[in-house]
Amino acid sequence: MQKFRIKGGLPLKGEVKVSSAKNSILPIIAATILCDDECIIENFPMLEDVSVICDVLKSLNVNVQMDNDNNILKIDGRNMDSLNLSEDLIRKMRASFLVLGPLLSRFGKARIYMPGGCNIGLRPIDLHLKGLEALGADISIKDGCVDISARKLKGTNIYLDFPSVGATENLIMAGALADGVTIIENAAKEPEIVDLAIFINGMGGDIEGAGSSKIVINGVKKLKGIRHMPIYDRIEAGTYMALAAITKSKFKIKGVNEDHLRAVISKFYEMGLDITINGTDVLVNGNVDLKPINIKTLPHPGFPTDMQPQLMSLLSLVSGTSTIVETIFENRFMHVMELRRMGANISIHDRVAVIEGIEKFIPSRVKATDLRAGAALILAALSCEGESEITDIYHIDRGYSQIENKLRNLGAEIFRLTDKTSI
Ligand code: UD1
Repeated sequence: MQKFRIKGGLPLKGEVKVSSAKNSILPIIAATILCDDECIIENFPMLEDVSVICDVLKSLNVNVQMDNDNNILKIDGRNMDSLNLSEDLIRKMRASFLVLGPLLSRFGKARIYMPGGCNIGLRPIDLHLKGLEALGADISIKDGCVDISARKLKGTNIYLDFPSVGATENLIMAGALADGVTIIENAAKEPEIVDLAIFINGMGGDIEGAGSSKIVINGVKKLKGIRHMPIYDRIEAGTYMALAAITKSKFKIKGVNEDHLRAVISKFYEMGLDITINGTDVLVNGNVDLKPINIKTLPHPGFPTDMQPQLMSLLSLVSGTSTIVETIFENRFMHVMELRRMGANISIHDRVAVIEGIEKFIPSRVKATDLRAGAALILAALSCEGESEITDIYHIDRGYSQIENKLRNLGAEIFRLTDKTSI
């Protein structure tokens, strides 16, 4: 079991580069199997989740090559044959479920196990399945295994009861090769959906309206391979902005798309953070007094749930009372227990966290309970003088590429240790 040892309290400086977005590259990798051709993905982030979805594709006999020297991923689904997905891989990561839409679209059938992933809520897949059923798929679920088939998917109108990111992506991929027109109403509007539509349109697809709540997919007969570079990771960028604020440091973050991060940036402005934006470079000066604020997580363009734990750490050190309402996931306050170990004063009332600012965190031994919870703990540990340890960092490796190298470049003292003894 690996853990991070962090000596906090040091001011950080210099610059940090944001990687490509985890939530963009995962559906894009799944979409490559819509064609029997080679796709090349540039600037892929070294993430555990990327390895898992590549392993899912390899288990289907897709040829996947990671060229680490040139930072490109080559994926060729020409010889794909097996349609049965490994239960272990699907359970390891919820996003593996994204191969369902493309598999069904290209081969007319798939067998898949119910997905796993971060432990932040029930995360059902009913919207994915209802949408696929509307497109003409027959679905049967037995012992946690989903069997799904459709001789040919047929375009139709689908209304999503909630703008689910994963369901929107699965249905876009399913509709890409369907007969006729598929219209998704109340679709998710995240920038990663737009990136997926750009990718599929580059393959020869015909998708309009991505980024709005109505997406129109005109099914095409065949798609071809392309070369694509995913968008920057807006959550990684936001995490580094919160890091500058919590460590009272001034450093530059390279690779930020302001448009994708408006809700987060406006909350930072509301707190009084000093931010200078120049194209895709953002200089953050955290050496300022911050004000308490109220946050409510919402689907894009609202405040992203994936930034909620990091803001919880930051607001813990802001004098006064702040609140965070979590509306997306029902169990996304697990980091509160760990932040309390570090001295935070946070109370939970159903889906509302009330945060009373404290002066500083106490260095502690804490556990990353999920990906963004882990990021929140890194921020807290870097903010306080003394040595902290964070265990279960495999969660952090799922979504932050080379995090300790990037942080050390900024002057942080963070070390990865392999520890056989539990703490
Ligand atoms: C994606 C992101 C994740 C982010 C989340 C919300 C990826 C790989 N992951 O996850 O980082 O936190 O969006 O922005 O892109 N729901 C249902 N039925 C369904 C599907 C979802 O009820 O069939 C519910 C979920 O339980 C949850 C809410 O909808 O409460 C949002 O889930 P969804 O948007 O689907 O998130 P993911 O695609 O899993």
